[in-house]
Amino acid sequence: MPMDLDLNGRCALVTGASAGIGRATALALAREGATVIATARRAALLEYISVQARDTGGQILPFAADLATAEALHRFVGTVQQAAGPINIVVNCAGGTRPVALDASEEDWEEAFSVNFTAARRLASAMLPAMKHAGWGRIINVTGILEPIGLNAAVAAKAALNLWSKGIARDVARHGVTVNCIGPGRILTEQIRDKVHPTEESRQAFAERYIPMGRFGEPSDVADLIVFLASPRASYITGAWIPVDGGMRRGQ
Ligand SMILES: NC(=O)c1ccc[n+]([C@@H]2O[C@H](COP(=O)([O-])OP(=O)(O)OC[C@H]3O[C@@H](n4cnc5c(N)ncnc54)[C@H](OP(=O)(O)O)[C@@H]3O)[C@@H](O)[C@H]2O)c1
Repeated sequence: MPMDLDLNGRCALVTGASAGIGRATALALAREGATVIATARRAALLEYISVQARDTGGQILPFAADLATAEALHRFVGTVQQAAGPINIVVNCAGGTRPVALDASEEDWEEAFSVNFTAARRLASAMLPAMKHAGWGRIINVTGILEPIGLNAAVAAKAALNLWSKGIARDVARHGVTVNCIGPGRILTEQIRDKVHPTEESRQAFAERYIPMGRFGEPSDVADLIVFLASPRASYITGAWIPVDGGMRRGQ
């Protein structure tokens, strides 16, 4: 029997949707029939994916916002709920790597945690009551690898998000709400090109040495798993952390 993901008519909110994994996820969910609320700071890029989705018969509603502060996030949640009604699926993708020095400032640590942990926690918490009321919901957090190569404030923040997710997954499991995390290894996106591996040579050298598959992943490799976890087909998977990394992890 073909696998019907049954996402038609469901409403999904995707953060970090202007680029990389978030953009691929928003487009993939729209292709499967979900109405997608797409958010990030760059409004023009959100408008662009909204047009792309429309061209293929999907619906992406762009809502530009910076989710780093409690007030902005609160305003955003109010606007979205008024415009779209109850959200069934939340995908927290916004974030990015933050390598820091041993003497990094309090501000650097606060900024890294606000984007990579607190915004995701606040957004999921704001949407949970409606999901529990409906008896169905999906929260999917894109976190990261569990073994830092050096001091990185984002890896610490993502570790917090992994364990927050695991704990809350147990508390809401009987309400039909699943909470899962995905750990990308090296996926070829804006931040990886800009901050981590700026040249093709450095990417190739890293992939040959550390990734058994010998290549970086594509955003769609992660988006495909997110779409599955968002669907009713994944109803018995919760509290999980699932790597998408071409076999890169070792001890984790
Ligand atoms: N790519 C990888 O190999 C990899 C590995 C491990 C973990 N991850 C995680 O996967 C997630 C997606 O990463 P990616 O590689 O796809 O990154 P990306 O291409 O750099 O995209 C990051 C997204 O986050 C949004 N964002 C950043 N700060 C924001 C803020 N304050 N408010 C609202 N939106 C914000 C950006 O949008 P705007 O700039 O428009 O706001 C953008 O849409 C991140 O959480 C990242 O840590 C990725």
